[in-house]
Amino acid sequence: MKNIIVAGNWKSNVNFSDAEDLIVEIAENSEDRSNKVEVIICPPFVYLEMATDIQQESNLFIGAQNISSHENGAYTGEISGEMLKSMDVNFAIIGHSERRKYFNETDDILLDKLNMALKNHINPIFCIGELLEERQADKHFEVIKQQLENTVFKLSKEDFEHVTLAYEPVWAIGTGVTASKEQAQEMHAFIRNLISEKFGEVIADECFILYGGSCNASNAYELFSQPDVDGGLIGGASLKADEFLKIIDAAEAVTAKS
Ligand code: 13P
Repeated sequence: MKNIIVAGNWKSNVNFSDAEDLIVEIAENSEDRSNKVEVIICPPFVYLEMATDIQQESNLFIGAQNISSHENGAYTGEISGEMLKSMDVNFAIIGHSERRKYFNETDDILLDKLNMALKNHINPIFCIGELLEERQADKHFEVIKQQLENTVFKLSKEDFEHVTLAYEPVWAIGTGVTASKEQAQEMHAFIRNLISEKFGEVIADECFILYGGSCNASNAYELFSQPDVDGGLIGGASLKADEFLKIIDAAEAVTAKS
């Protein structure tokens, strides 16, 4: 069985001292774990230096929550791929539904961001997901297919191999309404099948497809036990060390049973 990835997306939360306490506690409690679960912490940009310092003594990976679609230059407020790379950041979340909705990030912009990350050897965690009304109208498969075709399916095979996908149904984000294990498995299998058609079976099998949306300590085990769910992208439940550590325990338990 392949590894499981548990990634925490802190979004725009937590002050500096709480951020430091949180990451230290996660790092300390991750020391004796098997290497079958990969833990990625994505704090706000301003804490990345602190996080990468702590990471050096641990087996965590650090990711950014965003990346500029531009190279360095006159783009006030933007954080470029080169900057992230120079800070030992390993991953960047791209295409989160909150960025699509509140910051008008279109598929074209997201493709530029993907290319900037890949050019700087940062692994994208690329998010896709349908709205509630799209699911209710039975358009969810079509929407996901389109999102993939407009973005990651425009990458070369070699670049796509560095991409981790996160299926995050928008109706499940921050709502407490998790996709059922059947809904998650059905969509993940659909996504993997599309990857197989596009890039071949080996790449499809190797691709990590995470689930995100109200994933927590009580539902992580059953979600991660699904054959096509390779881990989770966790929002609210990544902000409390004990809850997040329980999710990592659930991932460990899934890897241990196979
Ligand atoms: P919640 O876990 O808070 O629903 O958020 C999921 C998410 O958006 C992770 O990127």
